Amino acid sequence: MVATGLFITFEGVEGSGKTTQIEMLRKWLLAAGHSVLVTREPGGDPAAEAIRNIVLENDVAPRTELLLFLASRAQNVETVILPALTAGKIVICDRFIDSSVAYQGFARGIGRDTVAALNEFATGALYPDITFLLDIDPAIGLARQADRNRMEAESLTFHQTVRKGFLTEAENSSGRICVLNASGSFADIHFSIANRVLKILESRV
Ligand code: TYD
Repeated sequence: MVATGLFITFEGVEGSGKTTQIEMLRKWLLAAGHSVLVTREPGGDPAAEAIRNIVLENDVAPRTELLLFLASRAQNVETVILPALTAGKIVICDRFIDSSVAYQGFARGIGRDTVAALNEFATGALYPDITFLLDIDPAIGLARQADRNRMEAESLTFHQTVRKGFLTEAENSSGRICVLNASGSFADIHFSIANRVLKILESRV
């Protein structure tokens, strides 16, 4: 079945403000009368949330880690994202394919192309209509985090490689990935995001 809704993803290093921006966008879209579904990765449905706990709370090998993120993604796409898109909803996902490329492909050293190919398998080649990459120096982002999970506890060098991975991916997919400076004010960042989404919605009428 062809998906008719709009698929928006948010990406960025730890503490880049994704959660705040997703909530601001969700409220803005609801106020404009749209039907919105917010989901996250790893996670989404009960099985994907169980995988989230495994991958974030256990010291697993890099390839195991990648496969767990992909398993969670396959489940989220199948049971949450695709049904909502098919129903015409606007779906906002907190992290998606680009996180696997940046964290596992670049920072864990598995390789960009291997991860991209496995992403395509896991999602059945579902790509976001638009991805907002909230870009910030990880030193600033990490300082904003109180509790740290296994990934967040990695070194600053690791997170700098993650950032580089995201930015490289954005250069290669400039039509889909919109890079925003996340050190600006929440209101300014939201304004840029809302404007971009509005343009896409208007172009579809
Ligand atoms: P989470 O607490 O959701 O972090 P955040 O609020 O920053 O999104 O934890 C998810 C962690 O998993 C985060 O450190 C990024 C990492 N991750 C990957 O390494 N690969 C992936 O494919 C995904 C989706 C997340």
